[in-house]
Parts: sequence; structure tokens; C-alpha cells
Amino acid sequence: MSRTFSSVMVTGGAGFIGSNFIRYLLGRPDFQGMVVNYDVLTYAGNPLSLADVAQQYGDRYVFVKADICDGAAVRDTIRAHGVDCIVHFAAESHVDRSIVAPDEFIRTNIMGTYTLLQAARELGVAHFHHVSTDEVFGSLGPTGFFTEETPYAPNSPYSASKAASDHLVRAYHQTYGLPTTHSNCSNNYGPYHFPEKLIPLMILNALEGKPLPVYGNGLNIRDWLYVEDHCSAIWTIVQNAAYGSSYNVGGRNELTNIAVVTKICELIDRKVEPLASGAPRSSLITYVKDRPGHDLRYAIDCSKLERDLGWKPAHDWESGFEETVDWYLANPQWVEQVRSGAYKQWLETNYASRG
Ligand code: NAD
Ligand code: DAU
Repeated sequence: MSRTFSSVMVTGGAGFIGSNFIRYLLGRPDFQGMVVNYDVLTYAGNPLSLADVAQQYGDRYVFVKADICDGAAVRDTIRAHGVDCIVHFAAESHVDRSIVAPDEFIRTNIMGTYTLLQAARELGVAHFHHVSTDEVFGSLGPTGFFTEETPYAPNSPYSASKAASDHLVRAYHQTYGLPTTHSNCSNNYGPYHFPEKLIPLMILNALEGKPLPVYGNGLNIRDWLYVEDHCSAIWTIVQNAAYGSSYNVGGRNELTNIAVVTKICELIDRKVEPLASGAPRSSLITYVKDRPGHDLRYAIDCSKLERDLGWKPAHDWESGFEETVDWYLANPQWVEQVRSGAYKQWLETNYASRG
């Protein structure tokens, strides 16, 4: 089985993973349809991430600036562009922000997903894919992996809102027969990653000789996957997975935060001029107050996806990570544009409170 679609609506297509997904999809020879990027452009959405795509693909790419909680706008967009598949990325995605101000997470991640599901059901959209996170499963100890059968145990307002959205997707399939699939992925890295998140924040601070704020003891573990490999997993699932199924996606690439930050320091020391003090960038590492409810370890068992659908990642950590650092070095104009006044304010508030 390999499904084909003529018009794919990508919610949150101006964000980190959504913009990478749109570039990936339009670049695939087996996809000749159109892409409708539906995004309200919060602080995390940036049209510059797709400026080249808009030029290159002309009338196969449309941007609609609207909110997923606006049911009328969602319906109008589905009708106007003959949408037959929705790939749903739009969300509030940053755990730290969800701890400070959960409201928008509840609204966008829960009400927004509900609004999309309801519209898809009413208008008979042929496929709805929901993009979710491994954080819905909570925290692992030193051993074991999250599988598709792991019980949900979210620990932050962000992960709780994503868990609620996953349950809504499941319910719309079970109750109304909506043709859905969904995926839970581990931490992504790569180009166009908003610099409030660990990897881009540390790359930019290291470049600028600013402190590198590591939460707690730096021994929390994340399972890192190159963003394009997440995109290929999603497209594989959308094309081939049974309706109502869910798949875990991960990189089999567990690293402590301190190992990631140390690697960034080494790469930047190698690629750009030394700090004025002559000290290595690792001297910028500063341990700060921990994130409340900080999950210790995430690790994904993605063998169902490999076995059922033949997916495998195309990038390894060593090359994918160095390419990512090179991308930030080569794209200072993108970095400058996303650093709005609101972003600067967030950095001040978040890191001031960590002492
Ligand atoms: P992001 O914060 O970079 O981008 C989110 C996008 O959604 C932005 O373009 C924003 O403008 C848009 N958006 C937010 N609220 C909206 C609304 N109400 N209406 C329309 N658009 C809205 O997020 P990301 O890191 O690209 O994550 C995308 C999705 O993937 C999320 O659902 C997230 O939970 C999931 N996910 C992320 C990761 C990761 O490592 N980043 C891992 C697994 C799953
Ligand atoms: O696991 C998937 C999730 O990965 C996604 O669902 C989220 O949308 C995405 O933001 C990401 O969540 P994390 O909380 O794991 O990512 P973040 O980059 O915020 O943090 C990664 C780790 O680094 C985490 O253990 C906290 C730590 N950290 C983070 C920041 C921003 C620091 O030590 N210092 C920091 O300044």
C-alpha cells in the first residue's frame, strides 16, 4: 500500500520540524501534489525558513496565516485547496515556557487539535496524521525504552497537553472512523531549530562567548534524531501505516546534555577563532537551577517502524550534528531574524530565575 494525495495541509509549517517537512515533501519525486502551510506565526514561526521553497515551487506551495483554533478558517482552507491529507505539527512546543505559562499550551495543543479533527471529520479529509512526542510517556530510569505500549505518564504541562491531543486523535478514529495515524518522536536537531532549545541555544551562546546554562547536573539523557529522518518517518507512516496505528520514532542515539554541550564547544573551538581570553569554550559551561519536574531519560524503541514499514534514518549523529553547527555558522541572517524583542525578553526571564 502506498497512499497518494493531491493536497497536503501542513499545520505549523513555519516552525522547526514543519518547515523541514515541507522542504522534504516538495523535494520528493513521488509527491506531485500541493502543500498548504497553515501557520499563525507565533514567536516560533518564521516564513524566512521557507522563502526559497516559496520561490522554487511556485503554485505547488501556498501559505495561509491562520490559527488552528479558528474552525471557520480551518474549514475554508480545506475547502479552498481541496485538502485530502492533514499533517499536524502546529503546537506550543517548549517545555520551559509551558511551566511558566501553560494556558497557550492547553489552547493550541488541545483545543487546536480538536478543532482540526472536527473539521477533518465534517469535510471527509482522507487522512489525518498527528505529530507527537515521546514526552507523553514520562521519564525512564537508567534502563529500558519507550514502546508504543508504554502507558502515558506526562510530567509537564507541555507533555500533558500533547498526551491529551494524542487521546483525541485516537478517539476520533475509534468513535467516528476518522482515518488517522500518529507518531511519537524523540528530540530532533538540525537546521531552522528555534534558539530557545538546547542545541541551537548552546551553539549561538558558544559562538558569542556567552554562558552555557546547563540545567541541574547535566546528566539528563535525550535520544537525538536528525530532523530530516523524522520527516522521512512521518511520510513513510502517512503513506503506508494502518489507520488508527501509532509509531514511535527515535535515533537510537542517547546522550547526556553535558556530552552534547561539550561536543558543541569542541566543534566551535575548531571552526571559529578562539575566545578573547584564550580559554576553551567549555569554560563557558555554567550549571544552573534545574527544570522543575525534569524528566531524567528518554529512549525510543523504534523497532515497530523499522519492522513494519522498513524505515531507517539516513543520518548519523557525527555527520548530522556537524552539519547542523555548520548551518548555524552559515545562516546568521536567519538567526538575527528570529531573535525578536519577545525572544530576548524570554531569555532574560528564564535564565534570570535560574540564578
Ligand atoms: P516549533 O515551536 O518550532 O513550531 C511550532 C509551529 O506551530 C510554529 O511555526 C508556530 O507558529 C505554529 N503554531 C503554534 N500555535 C499555532 C496555532 N494556534 N495555529 C497555527 N499555528 C501555530 O515546534 P517544532 O519543534 O517544530 O515541533 C513541531 C511538532 O512536533 C510539535 O507538535 C511538537 O510537539 C512535535 N515534536 C517536536 C519534537 C522536537 O524535538 N522539536 C520532537 C517530537 C515531537
Ligand atoms: O523529546 C521530544 C521533545 O524534545 C519535544 O516534544 C519538545 O517539543 C522539544 O522541545 C524537546 O523537549 P526537551 O525539553 O527535551 O528539549 P530542550 O531543548 O528544551 O531541552 C533538552 C534538554 O536540555 C533537557 O534535558 C533540558 C536541558 N536544557 C535545556 C535548555 C533550553 C538545559 O540544560 N539548558 C537549557 O538552557
